[in-house]
Amino acid sequence: MADVYTDSDDELVISQVINFGFYTPKHHKYLVLRLALARSMRFSSPPDEDFDHLQSTGKEYSLEQITGKGKKANDESGVLDFDDATIALLSVYHKEDLFADPKRYKKLLQRHIRRGLREIRTSWSPSHDFISFLQEELFAGTKENATEVSYDETGPEQLLEALVEIGVQAEIKEKIQGARIDRYNLYLPQVGHFDSLRRGLDKLAFSLGLGNEGVFMQPTAEPKVVGLDIPRQRQYWQSIDGAGLFHWAEQAKKQAGLPVWLGQDVLGRDFSFDLAEVPHLLIAGTTGSGKSVTLHALILSLLQGRSPEEIQLAFIDPKLVELSRYQDIPQQYGAGVAHLVTEAMQMLKELIAEMEKRNQLLEEAGASNLSEAIDSGRLNLPRIVVIIEELADLFSQSRELEAPLVRLAQKARSVGIHLVLATQRPDATTFSGLLRTNIPGRIALRVQKSSESRIILDETGAEKLLGAGDMLVKVGSAIPIRIHGAYISQDDIKRSIRYAKERR
Ligand SMILES: Nc1ncnc2c1ncn2[C@@H]1O[C@H](COP(=O)(O)OP(=O)(O)O)[C@@H](O)[C@H]1O
Ligand SMILES: [Mg+2]
Repeated sequence: MADVYTDSDDELVISQVINFGFYTPKHHKYLVLRLALARSMRFSSPPDEDFDHLQSTGKEYSLEQITGKGKKANDESGVLDFDDATIALLSVYHKEDLFADPKRYKKLLQRHIRRGLREIRTSWSPSHDFISFLQEELFAGTKENATEVSYDETGPEQLLEALVEIGVQAEIKEKIQGARIDRYNLYLPQVGHFDSLRRGLDKLAFSLGLGNEGVFMQPTAEPKVVGLDIPRQRQYWQSIDGAGLFHWAEQAKKQAGLPVWLGQDVLGRDFSFDLAEVPHLLIAGTTGSGKSVTLHALILSLLQGRSPEEIQLAFIDPKLVELSRYQDIPQQYGAGVAHLVTEAMQMLKELIAEMEKRNQLLEEAGASNLSEAIDSGRLNLPRIVVIIEELADLFSQSRELEAPLVRLAQKARSVGIHLVLATQRPDATTFSGLLRTNIPGRIALRVQKSSESRIILDETGAEKLLGAGDMLVKVGSAIPIRIHGAYISQDDIKRSIRYAKERR
């Protein structure tokens, strides 16, 4: 008898995992279902009802397969019955007695399994190593409730020895644990050693066995004290999840401008800034570095509690993957998410017309910019944020899009129109000349080469980041700040969209 149903998308990812994840076509499909269950249980919020509906026909599974229901320990298959354990687990997770309601249990089990499969589908691809993917997805941050993570990573002695090797004598004054790094504050009795340290950071990273990841040096306010940020291995990271955004939003709703939240700084303090002040932003990094997740954090920040009268978002996404989810939200600018070059061009033209119209209105209202006009109560217009995914992709299809973008970058800030451009190719062709000079805000996620870091930030460093949303952010200040981006899940996105639609 069937207990859990899948659809054809689910089946596709199951067969991909079996064929390209395990490389053993003989593995049973239920193993993938169990992994999916484990993945889903890592989210703190329950999966929603959407997983009850199957868009297409897939397969049917019984509890006997999934949880080994009814199997005996000495059964030749070696499968154990952990059905009761699963019911108990889900009962605790959902805070309801599922032993008393077998139908509800199966329903929730299906939701978890299908959510887990969706997570695997969206964050793993068959060209990546499945085992390390699992390790990261299932175990990253599992130690987060421990007050002090204990691990045999870089210890103080090892660090001091490595420092001696690069000619630096230091005393450790303090060690602070961030979500992904350990901050060592070092006292350097001899000032000359400061330069040796700065020049020796690559050797230090090498000596500590950090691979491509780097040690970052941070100034402190104390005399002769410098901070070193040494990354931990991924299984010792603490997770930073989307829940933080919703907490932050509670107080940010009342702020003027366009406050956005991205995550935490290396020592765990919330990091947010006002996009309206920036006023245009480039987000760049290699594939898989966390650009899209960062865009979602930004978009969800802008949506929190803001009505279409306050904000409108113009979406351009040539691949039509990430941003199509926001299609038809009440805060959408224009006819929909622009996908084709012609649609993107049309949208940019409309935005330029809007800019000119607003200039006229501001002039009539006697205000020099939108903030001033809003403050004085003379004019109220929604701010517009134009979000472009995969800029390099768009430019490779048509270079003609650059001219209207430059024009907006040059002139739109005062009328409350802001640009956020994401690209995986931070090269001089994509981001050059006039575009570059008129987009002052920069976010660099991990890149492959230091030259790419220089294109984004005007300095090196992004090639030593950890990936997975680790970023250098330059908004306003001259010095980039290192931020660990929060992991915004599909559920966070769905939840925000549903809320935006219901609120209307
Ligand atoms: N802030 C983050 N915390 C943890 N993992 C992240 C974070 N950002 C991204 N990741 C991981 O990296 C994967 C790729 O992120 P994504 O934003 O799609 O990259 P990009 O758009 O740069 O190709 C995600 O599916 C996730 O597994
Ligand atoms: Mg992306």
